[in-house]
Amino acid sequence: MNQTKVAFVTGASGGIGSAIAIKLNQLGYNLALNYNQNIEPLIKLKDLLTNKTAKTIIIQGDVADFESSQSMIQEAIASFGRMDVLVNNAGITNDKLLLKMTGEDFSEVIRINLNGTFNCTKHVSKIMMKQKSGCIINISSVIGLMGNIGQSNYAASKAGIIGFTKSIAKELARKNITCNAIAPGFIQTKMTSDMSEEVIEAIKKNIPLKRLGDPEDIANLVAFLCSDQAAYITGQTISVDGGLYI
Ligand SMILES: NC(=O)c1ccc[n+]([C@@H]2O[C@H](COP(=O)([O-])OP(=O)(O)OC[C@H]3O[C@@H](n4cnc5c(N)ncnc54)[C@H](OP(=O)(O)O)[C@@H]3O)[C@@H](O)[C@H]2O)c1
Repeated sequence: MNQTKVAFVTGASGGIGSAIAIKLNQLGYNLALNYNQNIEPLIKLKDLLTNKTAKTIIIQGDVADFESSQSMIQEAIASFGRMDVLVNNAGITNDKLLLKMTGEDFSEVIRINLNGTFNCTKHVSKIMMKQKSGCIINISSVIGLMGNIGQSNYAASKAGIIGFTKSIAKELARKNITCNAIAPGFIQTKMTSDMSEEVIEAIKKNIPLKRLGDPEDIANLVAFLCSDQAAYITGQTISVDGGLYI
């Protein structure tokens, strides 16, 4: 890379976000890594990053909050002066059957997963438009494509991300900015670690490759999508799910 590229990763304190951070650091990116409540994983992660020439900063903030998202992006720009890649990865689940799901259970998941993606994209887009380049990657989910019992809030948020991705791809293409979504299947992180052994075994039976994915499987696709080789790919949702959604 001629000029050191900069990436902003939301939810970098989690399983998939950490793997994305490690991969982008190996590729030489300067990183702005966001967490909301748990800074410890990011302090540990910073020590693990092998490319010591590339710089990494840690930024606290709530992606669901419009102003907080804005100040995080401003902090990253104050440190690095540019923004090449945004990975909207922060997300939560709050699973309940519709009969038990309250309005707050529904909106909390929409606010973090979908509004959070809007908030960060909105603030970063201004910078990328001025630069006339950029790459936005939104982490959706196989559940946004298939739906799932007990996950109507999560499925709605992740399906919303897919529609949002297509629209932003069309809006920003004229400024040489790509926008794609990744739809992970079941990946081994904190998000899936609460599931019982029986549930995991039942899920594996439905996955053609018969195993859960690793966070690195998602990070590898992020690395490809923000590389020059993917410059002509935009508006797509790419599944990384062992064949679960075919
Ligand atoms: N694991 C899977 O099987 C799977 C499958 C499909 C899609 N995904 C998606 O992949 C993404 C990452 O998931 P994961 O498995 O890595 O989950 P995870 O380990 O639970 O990490 C979630 C991350 O989101 C952050 N976060 C939550 N609320 C936030 C907020 N309001 N503002 C900023 N950050 C916030 C958390 O930060 P703090 O902990 O610091 O609060 C954490 O870094 C999510 O969007 C998830 O929906 C995961």
